[in-house]
Amino acid sequence: MNKAKREVVIAGNWKMNKTPSEAKALIEELKPMVEGKNGCKIVLCVPYVDISAAVEAAKGTNIRIGAENVHFAESGAYTGEISAKMLLECGVEYVIIGHSERRQYFGETDETVNLRTKAALAAGLKPIVCVGEVKEERISGITDEIVSMQTKLDLAGISAEDMKNVIIAYEPVWAIGTGLTATPEQADETCGVIRATLAKLYGNEVAEATVIQYGGSMNAKNAAELLAKTNVDGGLIGGASLKPADFTVIVDAAQ
Ligand code: 13P
Repeated sequence: MNKAKREVVIAGNWKMNKTPSEAKALIEELKPMVEGKNGCKIVLCVPYVDISAAVEAAKGTNIRIGAENVHFAESGAYTGEISAKMLLECGVEYVIIGHSERRQYFGETDETVNLRTKAALAAGLKPIVCVGEVKEERISGITDEIVSMQTKLDLAGISAEDMKNVIIAYEPVWAIGTGLTATPEQADETCGVIRATLAKLYGNEVAEATVIQYGGSMNAKNAAELLAKTNVDGGLIGGASLKPADFTVIVDAAQ
């Protein structure tokens, strides 16, 4: 399999933005703009409280809804947390796991990322597992080791069969929300390192079939160049996903 045969997934990560009524309005605006653009999967990962409004607004369209996190237990005494089963029943299909903001601000570790990924898969959700180096790690020349280690730890114990439903997002932490983007070459190279790690873990077939997105200041201007790269199978988009016109340009670039 080669890039041409892999699915391209353009996913928005709204982070902590938009109330339910604002979510509805944004999706209503976006719907006609992306209608019929089926050359890529379009996913919007939204705050928990927006899920029901988003699912309702996106019903019958080519927009799929995701969440931004999920707990790893099936149920129990975890005040404030949300389970995979709850998300599934609300109409969620995808879930971001291990975003660098969760790792940085909320004590997320590769161990909990792994547990959450397993819980999501067991419930039938498609996890978007985020990996990426911080600035000091890139400067020190250990980016490849870092993303390879994260990939191995985050996917520990996950079967080749389950990998059909896993998306990996390479998000260099220094490029998130900073306006600094990895060059297309850097994005391609590091997504390639992740793919090589998958080949070691699961063999070439799984590695070649896995969708690996780039995320980090992807926008209307730089998306086409990034998405043209062999190992970049889509984008995980923060800021630009809150602007329908910009997000649509990115979707267009992925057609
Ligand atoms: P920005 O596109 O705002 O840099 O955010 C990227 C991101 O964190 C997506 O998950």
